[in-house]
Amino acid sequence: MTRKFCNRAGKGPTQMLKRYIPRIGCGLMVVLAVIVTLYSSRYYAALGGIWWDIDPNIEAVILQAPLQALMHMLIAPAALVLGPFQFFPGIRMRHPKLHRCFGRVYVLACVIGGIGAFATSPFASGGLVASVGFGILAVLWVGTTVAAWISVVQGRFEWHRLLMRFSYAMTFGAVALRLQIPIGFALGYSSYSSMSPILAFTSWIPNVLIVALYSMFEARQRSLSLGFNEGPTPRAPNTAGQ
Ligand code: HEM
Repeated sequence: MTRKFCNRAGKGPTQMLKRYIPRIGCGLMVVLAVIVTLYSSRYYAALGGIWWDIDPNIEAVILQAPLQALMHMLIAPAALVLGPFQFFPGIRMRHPKLHRCFGRVYVLACVIGGIGAFATSPFASGGLVASVGFGILAVLWVGTTVAAWISVVQGRFEWHRLLMRFSYAMTFGAVALRLQIPIGFALGYSSYSSMSPILAFTSWIPNVLIVALYSMFEARQRSLSLGFNEGPTPRAPNTAGQ
């Protein structure tokens, strides 16, 4: 999701694929993040007592733990919608101030939204297993995001990039969760709460694994290309054609 994820490449069919697949992926990520964020904005109406299109079980969670639940549900969407823009190399290189500004808001939204999520997790509508899944996610989410921020402050940019990928993989769990709900219904679950003990894990573990695999693959490619570019140390001066 960083440089190479949304990068430009050269010509040729393979290069074209390398160029367009990441772009389509990034585009899809933005669209899904924006849709889920816009849909989440209905929780602002709950502040005024309007429970439009809110699952009765989630309404019960909010009524039980209003402060932490709304702190999470109103703030976390900011991280979801800002995150993708941080990965576009064009924005990062041409507008570094904007990248830093969005970055600060992203970290703040993750920390506030994550603390709210952690405090809401004991009340999760799916019971104890869902509480454990969401609780672990909240701790990892805040921890990874804060570590990513500390590493950029210390000038360790490689770590910053890697940790932010993991952070957004967890943030994007909000999208994965909502995409998995129709699958849950198709598999025979009768409500969100009944499938939530599973969703509390399946919404983020695959994202984290994909980022881990992608980062390992990228590191391997980089070390291979470095070896290729440097080439073997010449034993004798190359005199061909000179
Ligand atoms: C990544 C760490 C996250 C954790 C640990 C977490 C945790 C939770 C928990 C425990 C609930 C209550 C659900 C239940 O009772 O089953 C919840 C609901 C909710 N969360 Fe998160 N969440 C996270 C990320 C996000 C993000 C990034 C968004 C951005 C859209 C978000 C938006 C919401 C909304 C809108 C609800 C209300 C339920 C719904 O509309 O589906 N969460 N979250």
